[in-house]
Amino acid sequence: MEIDGAVCIVTGASSGIGAATAQMLSGLGARVVLAARRTDRLERLSSTLPGSLAVTTDVTAAGGFARLVDRAVAAFGSIDVLVNNAGQGLHVPLEQLDPADLRAVFELNVVAPLVGMQAVAPVMRGGTGGAIVNVSSATSLRVIAGLGGYSATKAALNMISQVGRVEMAAEGVTVSIVYPSVTATEFHQRLRAGALVSGGPPIAPDPPELVARAISFAIQSGEAHVLVDDPPQLLTPGDGGARRTFLASPLPS
Ligand SMILES: NC(=O)c1ccc[n+]([C@@H]2O[C@H](COP(=O)([O-])OP(=O)(O)OC[C@H]3O[C@@H](n4cnc5c(N)ncnc54)[C@H](OP(=O)(O)O)[C@@H]3O)[C@@H](O)[C@H]2O)c1
Repeated sequence: MEIDGAVCIVTGASSGIGAATAQMLSGLGARVVLAARRTDRLERLSSTLPGSLAVTTDVTAAGGFARLVDRAVAAFGSIDVLVNNAGQGLHVPLEQLDPADLRAVFELNVVAPLVGMQAVAPVMRGGTGGAIVNVSSATSLRVIAGLGGYSATKAALNMISQVGRVEMAAEGVTVSIVYPSVTATEFHQRLRAGALVSGGPPIAPDPPELVARAISFAIQSGEAHVLVDDPPQLLTPGDGGARRTFLASPLPS
């Protein structure tokens, strides 16, 4: 997928990884549609990104994604890329995990990206195809005490993404998963419940720009699995976790 000129929807664009991704895609020539709930932040960012559109959106609200897609099509006539990035953490040991919190985070981290895929599919199918990048988490590949609820939502997103990749391939739509590791954003201050799990060796968080690079790479390459790690790496699909170096692959400049 060529990013230059592409119409790219980025959810969760009001902060962190989503804002960095919107900036990077815009810098590569994309027409970016910024979606999140905090209008002031979206409009501030949009004013710095030529040709971008800010659309206040709650991706968990009924009809929220449909309105977002309608606004994007009305403005640009097509949608080439969806980055399903909006998400929230839930860092509580299972015994204390409130099912209501898990349901709420499941709605945001799993159901909303699915609804997004369903909303853009007909538009992409009616055009020249497209790319969907679902932002998961490296925690979904590991067993980490305190992260059972959050990681379960991302593991569910992984499966929906992989099945979507198979089901949508014939329509020219490529579905990729990006797995960030600990990243320096507001994420850890905005958990649905709990706190950043600590106890292990101190982790230097990745800058959100590194994740934005991995997302841009996933769009361009159509790779199924991109792990953001130190150094960032590709997970080779179906090899049980064997990796090859992400940085050795072509990257957007
Ligand atoms: N930071 C990390 O260490 C880390 C690690 C692995 C994976 N991730 C994943 O990376 C993604 C981005 O997180 P981040 O680190 O950039 O955190 P962040 O700075 O807290 O950003 C989260 C974004 O999601 C948006 N959002 C939340 N609920 C929403 C809703 N109902 N509708 C629309 N937008 C909503 C927020 O915007 P509004 O509040 O304005 O709506 C915000 O822009 C998430 O999926 C997260 O799970 C993060």
